[in-house]
Amino acid sequence: MLEKRQVGVPSTAAAVAVSKGRGNCGLIPCTTFDGASQLVSVSGSYEWTPPQEGDIRGPCPGLNAAANHNYLPHSGVATIAETVAGLGAAYGMAPTLAAALAAYAIIFDGDPVLGTWSIGGPPPADPLTSGLLGGAQGISYSHNNYEGECVTSIGRNDAYLNHGDAYSLNVTRFAEAYSTGLSDDRYTLDGFAQHFLTNVEFSVANNPYYFAAPFATTVVAPAAYNFVINFMSNHSAEEPNGYLNGAIFKEFFAVTGDYPNFKWIPGNERDATTNTSTRYKRSTLNEYQAANVFDDVAVNYAAYPNSLRIGGNVNGVNTYEGVDLGNLTGGVYNTADLLNYQDSSGAACFYTQFIQAVIPDAAATLLGELSAITDLVNNYITPLAGNLSCAEINQYDQTLFNKFPGYHYDPTGPTSN
Ligand code: HEM
Repeated sequence: MLEKRQVGVPSTAAAVAVSKGRGNCGLIPCTTFDGASQLVSVSGSYEWTPPQEGDIRGPCPGLNAAANHNYLPHSGVATIAETVAGLGAAYGMAPTLAAALAAYAIIFDGDPVLGTWSIGGPPPADPLTSGLLGGAQGISYSHNNYEGECVTSIGRNDAYLNHGDAYSLNVTRFAEAYSTGLSDDRYTLDGFAQHFLTNVEFSVANNPYYFAAPFATTVVAPAAYNFVINFMSNHSAEEPNGYLNGAIFKEFFAVTGDYPNFKWIPGNERDATTNTSTRYKRSTLNEYQAANVFDDVAVNYAAYPNSLRIGGNVNGVNTYEGVDLGNLTGGVYNTADLLNYQDSSGAACFYTQFIQAVIPDAAATLLGELSAITDLVNNYITPLAGNLSCAEINQYDQTLFNKFPGYHYDPTGPTSN
């Protein structure tokens, strides 16, 4: 079990009310509309073009669609600057958040010397760097550092349950997520938060290798649900706070057909161009920042506490054991930090510190270019915590994870993609 919640964390009932009260812009509503700055162009140089021979696509529909519309390089391999510009233009993602997500991808699964990362599998070998950076697998094979326990994802399979493939869409799972908005053709943060809980419980009961890693499964997985609502919704003049219907949801996920008879067409992820003539991203006055990520995830956890897991199955299905966050961090952080949406500074500090705590190991194993990595951390990861003075994690005890079979599972990709 997770450790006991501490005084100061809002009650579950209060959190449920907050969760249900959220619009599609998260805790801070989007109240203004400006068509000129919010219209997402899907014509001219942004016209949808599916991936061509050699282009890379992966597990993330938001990135795949952005690459198909040239908001990211069509090749699927991007720099930090390209990520910041592209995701800001396509979705209203704040620069600090986009840069941090890209930097994390470069550090763990990319090429720190070239400063590039792949939105799918490994890029074609570069003769200049392939010797040094042979470990750059791309986010498709970032199991447990970026790509998390996928039965808790919206539509992907778990890597272990699917022979290492955690990037292909499982349309049955997609249909389950789709059903949450079926009655009124409307998708919400709260509906998805409840669905995340369902998927977590299903996973514990069905995946012997269920393992919730502190970042990949505790933040990336639930944040992806929130990303769908915050980034894919149409924030129009009529509904500046955002409205996501099933048609847009399907297009972004490259899904055709009618519920529940769906078909996934790999690589066909696209912005809403077929069923709606225009899509407006969230207001540029309310871009989605790292703090919003932590806040929205914290609301989900506070409202549906059973969805917050750090730990995994130890001996087959339904043998979940949690890891105490205090024990993991030498007593510096605790579970309450991840639940407090009224003050997410604890969560911001924990995740920022956590990333730094795990870098030396990963760097030694995968890449070895420590100074490039240090620069990435200082320039893009540390700023996630803003001006907070965060308690440092001096003892990050990863040995606590050794008892989880899912912790040791490490799928690798093909030599090229
Ligand atoms: C640099 C920015 C981003 C990075 C590095 C990133 C990375 C990832 C990764 C690694 C996954 C797989 C997670 C897992 O398997 O548990 C994922 C899934 C996902 N991402 Fe992203 N992502 C980014 C931006 C976005 C944006 C802008 C959106 C929305 C517009 C988005 C929406 C999603 C969704 C919906 C999923 C889950 C897909 C599913 O379960 O079927 N992401 N992303």
